[in-house]
Amino acid sequence: MRHLIDPTDLSMQELDEVISLALDIIDNREKYAEVCRGKKLATLFYEPSTRTRLSFTSAMMELGGNVLGFSDAKSSSVSKGETCADTTKVISCFADIIAMRHFEEGAALVAALNARVPVINAGDGSHSHPTQTLTDLLTIKREIGRFDHITVGFCGDLKFGRTVHSLIKALSRYEGVKVVLISPEQLRLPSYMKHEVCEQNGIEYKEVATMEEVMGELDVLYMTRVQQERFDDPEEYERLKDSFILDVDKLRGAQPHMRILHPLPRVNEITVEVDNDPRAAYFRQVENGKFVRMALMLKLLEWAKDESKTQPLLPEGVERNTRVCSNRRCISNMENVDRLFRPSLNGDGSWRCVYCESKAK
Ligand code: NCD
Repeated sequence: MRHLIDPTDLSMQELDEVISLALDIIDNREKYAEVCRGKKLATLFYEPSTRTRLSFTSAMMELGGNVLGFSDAKSSSVSKGETCADTTKVISCFADIIAMRHFEEGAALVAALNARVPVINAGDGSHSHPTQTLTDLLTIKREIGRFDHITVGFCGDLKFGRTVHSLIKALSRYEGVKVVLISPEQLRLPSYMKHEVCEQNGIEYKEVATMEEVMGELDVLYMTRVQQERFDDPEEYERLKDSFILDVDKLRGAQPHMRILHPLPRVNEITVEVDNDPRAAYFRQVENGKFVRMALMLKLLEWAKDESKTQPLLPEGVERNTRVCSNRRCISNMENVDRLFRPSLNGDGSWRCVYCESKAK
């Protein structure tokens, strides 16, 4: 079986195939109008979402298939205490493919370990969001033309922003990518991302305090919202919520070819006047999300029939139940699942949780 849990679950070649298929879908919409006739997508959304869920729904409808599911944990059996593992086993009997969004980090991996159909991670807590990454990559491809030798500025909530984590991971596989991290100190990129993703892959990165000082260097400016729902302390959110606001004035220093991306929803971090600038690509990005999800679902359904496409879901050297994950939002601390750990990639002797990549206690 093939799933998409982490952005790097697709090989570089498979990623190219998905992006190329999305481009073909854009050019030949009618050719794909019936290709999923009789297929069913289940959207299991335990956390609020408008765009991602509707994007999946509309993608499956444009392929001629059907969609079932729920958009709120309260309206599913979770409210009766059903585990993520059991829900996935049950839904495998009803659908050909599953898209899951969950507030617990690692939930999509638990789903994949229990499913009999492909599982797509549509966001697991603040950990990962690989289909937003495919959306971002298709947008970069269409707007900038390449993934290598680009400088990408990430601005806003780099701590909780799962879209940021996933896109940096995906870009770390290309040559000559530079990453500029623009955030308040309290919302900096998690250390595993800096040490295990950037440094291990030779990605040049720097942390800066203002967007103005780096604006002229960027090919892409990836704006994000400060995520109120992930803060434990409401006062801390109030202090940080207006940290970075992109307006027309700040954009003056940017190159003409620079593109502004944002996974949306926007709160106030980009003023509405910026929408009229041709460099604002975030609404085009939304449409790319639908096309790339069409391509992804087609590929996963095709690969589901191909034994040679089966992926190992767990890394080598996994230890079970020998430690405890330090992240209280991790599924291993919320549900009754095996606690899985792998050695840290930077060789410092520490262990990382397989579900959420946080350090073991
Ligand atoms: C993002 C998400 O859910 O992580 N949005 C999305 O998928 N379109 C970003 C966010 O919620 O801020």
